[in-house]
Amino acid sequence: MVLDFRYHYHLIIMVFFFFFVFCAMASRVSGVGVNWGTMATHQLPPKKVVKMLKQNGFGKLKLFDADEWIMAALMGTDIEVMLAIPNNMLEEMSKTPRAADSWVAENVTGYLYPGGVNIKFVAVGNEPFLKAYNGSYLHTTFPALKNIQTSLYNAGLGSKVKVTVPFNADIYFSPESNPVPSAGDFRPEIRDITLEIIQFLYSCEAPLTVNIYPFLSLYDNDNFPIEFAFFEGNSRPLRDGSLLYNNVFDANLDTLLWALEKAGYPDMQILVGEVGWPTDGDKNANIQKAKRFNQGLLKHVMSGNGTPKRRGIIDMYLFSLIDENAKSIAPGMFERHWGIFEFDGKPKYELDLAGQELNKGLAPVHGIKYMERQWCVLNTDAGTNERFLARSIDYACSQSDCTALGYGSSCNNLSLQGNASYAFNMYYQVHNQRDWDCDFSGLAIVTDEDPSENGCHFPVMISYGSSLMVHGGLSDILRNVLCVCTLIMILL
Ligand SMILES: *[C@@H]1O[C@H](CO)[C@@H](O)[C@H](O)[C@H]1NC(C)=O
Ligand SMILES: *[C@@H]1O[C@H](CO)[C@@H](O)[C@H](O)[C@H]1NC(C)=O
Ligand SMILES: *[C@@H]1O[C@H](CO)[C@@H](O)[C@H](O)[C@H]1NC(C)=O
Repeated sequence: MVLDFRYHYHLIIMVFFFFFVFCAMASRVSGVGVNWGTMATHQLPPKKVVKMLKQNGFGKLKLFDADEWIMAALMGTDIEVMLAIPNNMLEEMSKTPRAADSWVAENVTGYLYPGGVNIKFVAVGNEPFLKAYNGSYLHTTFPALKNIQTSLYNAGLGSKVKVTVPFNADIYFSPESNPVPSAGDFRPEIRDITLEIIQFLYSCEAPLTVNIYPFLSLYDNDNFPIEFAFFEGNSRPLRDGSLLYNNVFDANLDTLLWALEKAGYPDMQILVGEVGWPTDGDKNANIQKAKRFNQGLLKHVMSGNGTPKRRGIIDMYLFSLIDENAKSIAPGMFERHWGIFEFDGKPKYELDLAGQELNKGLAPVHGIKYMERQWCVLNTDAGTNERFLARSIDYACSQSDCTALGYGSSCNNLSLQGNASYAFNMYYQVHNQRDWDCDFSGLAIVTDEDPSENGCHFPVMISYGSSLMVHGGLSDILRNVLCVCTLIMILL
């Protein structure tokens, strides 16, 4: 028998080919996406967080700005990154193409090299058309988007890095008279500008990003059927023609798909930019419901069943990675409790990121340093009138985070004295346990006995300060003088 060299040659090529296809498939980022926000007084070290992301198999990350330390920590990983331009930069980006050029040069091109950061998307703005913004970013978002796209294109990144705009789900709706997905359309006041943006994204083969919050459907409406917020299909389904909806997430996403179809974009690529469930700060925000929602969501989006209107795996970023104790609570107390992880990087509950509903523990952020194991509490010997106490609590809370005290929250059962201890401790911890921050005119005292009780956790802060609420140096002293003066004025 003659050895057919060419046959073997082909075989070898075939083997290599399949090997490469296999590798490409294996390395295709399939891990879950997650939002990493940094509105916290005390930041975990980014390097340790990135290690945790890799350990848990998070494959995609959405960032709200190009934080240098986070970007540095991501170097050399294959985590896919969506990088956002904050709303307050949109005006500049819209007016001067050169500002867009230098943003792209510094924050994208600067990281795109072998061993750098795997940036896949630039998000222009964050929910810029949110009703609460009163139209502030209505006229800057699209010009900024175009300038950034031009800058990416000029930098030779037109096909590698895609632009997108993460919108709040309130850009579309279905009318109260016919509340079904197929009646969906864009909000009339912003319809034209939204469609211009969509047309532009579509022509760039770029995705539209939308944030969907079943929790808010429940929060905003006491009559909302609670089971419809989850994924077990236990609620009475919503019928829309021949389609049946078992959960509000699908109904919401399909409302957008219908709106897009009517506008002529039936195959628009969609990313769900934020979706999640908070664990405190409201009667429906707790660990059981958050776990139930997120686990159901993961199973659903990864099943490939898609929504009734569109099959396939749903691309999404969980909201969010870590609790943020300095977020605005204008939308609600729950805002500071969206994390899958506590402020100190401990997982709040088990979550199987592969969507198999196995009771898999998440790896925590390892090697975290805490401040001293000590708390600031009400000195019950001090004696005071209730009005004075109430004012001290208000003050301490206004300068820290008391969102766990509210109605339906984890520390809502405390007595007035308990409230005072909680507030004093939060103030003390957020201000790095400085002696003079546990005083409140002699009402407060430091203790090394943990005052936590019945699911109400009195935290000890991690020892990584930041400049969000706590400042160092001279400005710190000035600020304290100011605080004390204000306090005295309030109390008089
Ligand atoms: C890069 O991003 C950071 C963080 O958002 C921002 O502060 C900085 O101004 C950006 N660089 C340029 C040149 O715009
Ligand atoms: C929007 O308008 C409301 C009411 O007029 C106001 O309270 C709020 O501060 C405004 N928000 C912004 C971002 O301008
Ligand atoms: C404790 O504080 C919370 C939040 O401010 C309040 O709702 C609750 O009524 C307070 N409890 C007492 C006993 O004053």
